[in-house]
Amino acid sequence: MDSDFSQFLASRRSTRDFLPKTVPPEIIEQLLTDSLTAPSWSNTRPFKVAVATGEVRDRISNEFLSRWAALSKARNGNAFSKIKLFFTRHGLPTSNRRMTKPYVAELKPRAQRIGKELYSVLGVARGDVVNRDAQWARNYEFFGAPVELFIYIHKSLHIYAASDAGLMMENLMLSAHALGLGTCAQGAVGIWDDVVRREFEVSGDYRLLCGIAIGYPTDSPVNSFKAHRLDVSDLVLKLKN
Ligand SMILES: Cc1cc2nc3c(=O)[nH]c(=O)nc-3n(C[C@H](O)[C@H](O)[C@H](O)COP(=O)(O)O)c2cc1C
Repeated sequence: MDSDFSQFLASRRSTRDFLPKTVPPEIIEQLLTDSLTAPSWSNTRPFKVAVATGEVRDRISNEFLSRWAALSKARNGNAFSKIKLFFTRHGLPTSNRRMTKPYVAELKPRAQRIGKELYSVLGVARGDVVNRDAQWARNYEFFGAPVELFIYIHKSLHIYAASDAGLMMENLMLSAHALGLGTCAQGAVGIWDDVVRREFEVSGDYRLLCGIAIGYPTDSPVNSFKAHRLDVSDLVLKLKN
């Protein structure tokens, strides 16, 4: 049983290389309208979206790239660059610090697999930290996407706010896919929330969850990368004996 809808779902893949082609405002409006038809906890929709385009997008991207350069240098560099990072604090996470914790044993092989397979498509050899960090920096260029969304969730609803945001994001990403646009959810942009707050009015009740890059895909091989899918048997819990 493989309906057209199942095939449509399976054909959505993260886009990590975008054309410098503008997304018309009415299309962004349509994606946001579609995002709001997702289910939501008591219909509260405990999230807000910052839509970064044009000069705002570029300013945020430039600041992210500058911070990533400092952070990457400190991680891979000598004691002096580590001390510099510590004193200037330029590059240190200002939000979501816990994201950088190591994966637990159950999930680590999955994360390692996607990393290995994706970097192999990108031609980055295992252990090549310079090129790996350069590729990670593409996150801070939003992979060339002209539109970057920043997804904020209300802190009061805890896990349900993130769950609602996930549902909303999936609606939005599928709507984009149906219109021939590519998207990539980006946890990478969640670590310097202050940069986004400089540009948008964000209440202190909201926390940055992640970003979503939106635009028209190039024909780069990275956009044909097929991330591994779990088997249903890995998903379903076994009954107790
Ligand atoms: C919340 C969230 C954050 C993500 N963060 C990143 C990211 O920072 N950079 C990136 O390249 N991909 C990111 N991804 C994309 C995942 O790697 C991708 O969805 C996964 O490997 C499955 O591949 P697919 O989207 O092509 O089906 C993120 C996905 C989600 C849902």
